[in-house]
Amino acid sequence: MKNKIQLIEDKLKKSGIKYNLIPLPESLPLDIPSHVMFYKITFSQATATILYKTDKGIVAIQRRADTKFNLEKLKQAIGVKQLEFASESDLRELGTKNGLVPLFGLQVKYFIDKKVLEQGKIYGSSGDGLFGLAIQAKDLPKVNNGQIIDVTERPILGKKRVYSGVRATGRLHLGNYLGAVKGMLALQDDYDCTFSVVDLHAMTTPYDPKTLKDSIRSVILDFLSAGLDPEKCRLEIQSQVPQHTELSFLLATLYPLAPLEDLPTFKDKKAQYPKNVNTALLYYPILMAADVLLYKGELVPVGIDQEPHMEVMRECARKFNQVYGDTFPEPYRFKTMGEYVPSLTGAGKMSKTVEGSFINLNDDFETIKRKLAKVPTDAGTTGGDVPKIGGVATLFVLLALFNRDDMHKKYKQDYMDGKIRYGELKAFLSERIYDELKPIQEKRKYFEEHPKIVDEILKMGNEKCLKIAEETMKEVKEKMGLSI
Ligand code: TRP
Repeated sequence: MKNKIQLIEDKLKKSGIKYNLIPLPESLPLDIPSHVMFYKITFSQATATILYKTDKGIVAIQRRADTKFNLEKLKQAIGVKQLEFASESDLRELGTKNGLVPLFGLQVKYFIDKKVLEQGKIYGSSGDGLFGLAIQAKDLPKVNNGQIIDVTERPILGKKRVYSGVRATGRLHLGNYLGAVKGMLALQDDYDCTFSVVDLHAMTTPYDPKTLKDSIRSVILDFLSAGLDPEKCRLEIQSQVPQHTELSFLLATLYPLAPLEDLPTFKDKKAQYPKNVNTALLYYPILMAADVLLYKGELVPVGIDQEPHMEVMRECARKFNQVYGDTFPEPYRFKTMGEYVPSLTGAGKMSKTVEGSFINLNDDFETIKRKLAKVPTDAGTTGGDVPKIGGVATLFVLLALFNRDDMHKKYKQDYMDGKIRYGELKAFLSERIYDELKPIQEKRKYFEEHPKIVDEILKMGNEKCLKIAEETMKEVKEKMGLSI
């Protein structure tokens, strides 16, 4: 490994350009969003090298993560007739993976999309996830002898629409924060985002009308405290944009009943609240589809447990487009590292409704410590691979999610060597978690003390949302044959 880095460093040094080599934590997933979050950059600063197989052999193309190629333009620019992504086995043969860094030693034709060079500093990561590289965009052609082409279809970011919602069930917990809010934070700089407190969804299971208002407000405060910026995204309260329910009814006319009864989420809730199986609970996924489609959302940062709902959403969009003509994109889930945050009990996922399973966003250091102390562990002397389920697995997932360095690796090694000390790990983890939550808690205090500012933000968000919602409904009603 060292050799490869050394090789690249030599090459960079020889070319006389400035660069930054950044070791990546082992736990970082290989996708671009995770890297953008890790580097704390925008998508427009992230670049990827994509290897394509063509009728003239393998070529490498450098593109900015916020752009999309026009494939016809691309074929023309590089003079090929056929073009497809290089397969796993092609890459294996070449001894590389997609990713900026391996390219420095790779003998293939190399092209750089013009948009990359419009940036100042750019970041790329080695396809193997071991390290990242930051250099000035203008230096890129120097190192790689790349040919500049102009093949971007359109910048997708700044245009691509994102929608996500969090149920109004009171204060957020760490699972909501890692699974949804962190994804929202990563997207708000570059995408056209709407983030919602879905209060109507919260009414599908037993709730208290006396406290619902507070719960709604509380989620908004957590959104703002966590860093959602009303200048960058639209914030809405679902019930205040009545088009959500209107569109959901219209979509329901297209969607069959039976699959809704079979959804695992419906079955779970039915089992959890056998005396409260109301029609709205069954209807939940249709309302969720309407939430996103109302804004023609394309990307949805939510946890992995929402995948069945995403499928219903895509089916609604597909069905509508088939019957009434192209109207809605088919939205996809935006995956984040925290898409599944396990429970502190060691069984299942972190959930508001499971006592002892979660850490609240407003938990202080002592509370976090106390909660982590209760996570069940083993003797720590068995060694071998880190378990995939149970309390120890939970600790390692959290460690990875709050990793800023290689402590995750260190503790993993300790585990494998049979000499892990859970007390130490838990104390370290508590500090890491609190470090991240403390500024959020401080900001929350500010917003609690300035309710007028929050009201203003909500008013502004609501106005912007209503405008888009009205436009979509006009189009939908016209297409469905309703007089408007
Ligand atoms: N079902 C989602 C959850 O429980 C909440 C939700 C409702 C939602 N509407 C949405 C999430 C639209 C994303 C987009 O997490």
